Amino acid sequence: MPKITVISHEIVKELLPFEQAFAIVEAAFTEFHQRKSQLYPAVREMVPDHHGIFGIKSSYLLEDRCIGLKAGGFWSKNTERQKMNHQSTMLLFDAETGEPVCLLDANYVTIARTAAAGAVAAKHLARKDSSVISVIGSGTQARAQVDGLLRLFPIKEVVVYSRNAESANDFVRQLLDKGMSARYTCSPEEAVRTGDIVVTTTPSFSPIVQTSWIKEGTHINAVGSDTKGKRELLINRPLDKVVCDVWEQCSIMGEVQHGFPRTELYAELGQITSGDKAGREHPKETTLFDATGLSIQDVKTAFHVYKQAKINGLGQTITL
Ligand SMILES: NC(=O)c1ccc[n+]([C@@H]2O[C@H](COP(=O)([O-])OP(=O)(O)OC[C@H]3O[C@@H](n4cnc5c(N)ncnc54)[C@H](O)[C@@H]3O)[C@@H](O)[C@H]2O)c1
Repeated sequence: MPKITVISHEIVKELLPFEQAFAIVEAAFTEFHQRKSQLYPAVREMVPDHHGIFGIKSSYLLEDRCIGLKAGGFWSKNTERQKMNHQSTMLLFDAETGEPVCLLDANYVTIARTAAAGAVAAKHLARKDSSVISVIGSGTQARAQVDGLLRLFPIKEVVVYSRNAESANDFVRQLLDKGMSARYTCSPEEAVRTGDIVVTTTPSFSPIVQTSWIKEGTHINAVGSDTKGKRELLINRPLDKVVCDVWEQCSIMGEVQHGFPRTELYAELGQITSGDKAGREHPKETTLFDATGLSIQDVKTAFHVYKQAKINGLGQTITL
């Protein structure tokens, strides 16, 4: 009978400091480019009766001999119930036998691996001297993305625009409490015109940000669009380098689904993290990372948590 390690949200959090998540996710992109992992087709469907989006993402890490899946999605009314809008759970399998080995809460895995992907993309694509982050949205991802970027760049100010001014102001207060300079703006255009790094983190289905607003040298991390129909950007001024996590997924769920031609894609992120293609080459370049969230990020991160839990005797073991 297979034995499964069950790992709670709190333990995942304890075992996944940002620096660790960053290194794991950067390696996951490189390994994918080097064909050391495989992505299986993702499922992403609307659940209109309950204002939800349900998805299953799975992949196979060849060297770790691990297959994993994450099931869950985004329920937009959950905030009213004091629950997170994002809800997900993961299951890992031994690739040799197909037996399940680990069941874990994946809400924190999603937060950590998405913040890490944004930070990895910015490390390679943003100007090293980026000093202003402009963030669109003020929810879970906005906070995690900013937290990651603050660790990498000499940030002097964070500018927050969100549809929900109360939540935006709460986020600003949180940043001020940490000693950061931060402010709310009611104009997305003003936010975008100010930023060296612009991060979009809303579940919007129509553009909030126009690329004609950005200044020379700006990098955009587009994080919110991860479903068919979602859209935060209007690309009405061409960007020098557009990078996807992976084209096949982004062309269905990401910003580039809205008519951006494959021929104009500069690279997938793994080509850059592996050193096969250059990241930023000039201070004036404008760059975009279209992030839809890959299963390899989830599974590589969860596999690390599973290994650490085993080493440290954490989690509960159950027999099926
Ligand atoms: N790319 C990825 O890997 C990845 C990973 C996780 C989440 N996501 C996506 O990121 C988005 C945000 O997720 P979250 O967990 O932070 O959600 P959240 O509900 O915690 O936050 C969403 C924020 O966006 C704001 N907002 C909503 N519509 C807006 C609009 N039209 N204009 C301005 N602000 C608006 C809300 O007020 C809120 O502050 C979702 O679309 C989610 O599916 C992507």
